[in-house]
Amino acid sequence: MLRESLSKDKFNELEDFINSLEEKKGALIEVLHTAQHIFGYLPKDVQLFISKKLNIPSSKVFGVVSFYSYFTTKPRGEYVINICLGTVCFVKGADKIMEKFEQELNIKCGETTPDGKFTLEGLRCVGACGLAPVVVVNEKVYGKVTLDDVEKILSNYNNEVEDKKLAQSSI
Ligand code: FES
Repeated sequence: MLRESLSKDKFNELEDFINSLEEKKGALIEVLHTAQHIFGYLPKDVQLFISKKLNIPSSKVFGVVSFYSYFTTKPRGEYVINICLGTVCFVKGADKIMEKFEQELNIKCGETTPDGKFTLEGLRCVGACGLAPVVVVNEKVYGKVTLDDVEKILSNYNNEVEDKKLAQSSI
């Protein structure tokens, strides 16, 4: 029930944004960008909604979404863990760090935990090679990460999730 109303709110937000556009023609990328920001990803029903609202064939919307790697049709976790797999980080053991995250979360790189908390991804050099190996969680950068740090990093976010739950239940 709560899930449904949350999603309704998100559709309303997207609709308001589309209605606020002065020029809808040529706004597809901007609308998709905003929709991904609102929903976290672009499921098919969101793409169909956009196609209807902008009066653009759904095939064109699907085509644009699949063309740009920035857009994703899979739900991503609340926390996206990116492990730098650039050369310097790799030499400093980023592959082992990735394996450790995979073990701890019981998912493979590119997947999201079933509870939607964490997504695990690899990326190319983030330009902080002096801190190799580097792990980025959402916007936060962790440098010189060791295998022992992996559990600590995860427990930060697990605690944060618990704190939020507690805060919500006490409202
Ligand atoms: S290779 Fe990882 S930050 Fe440059």
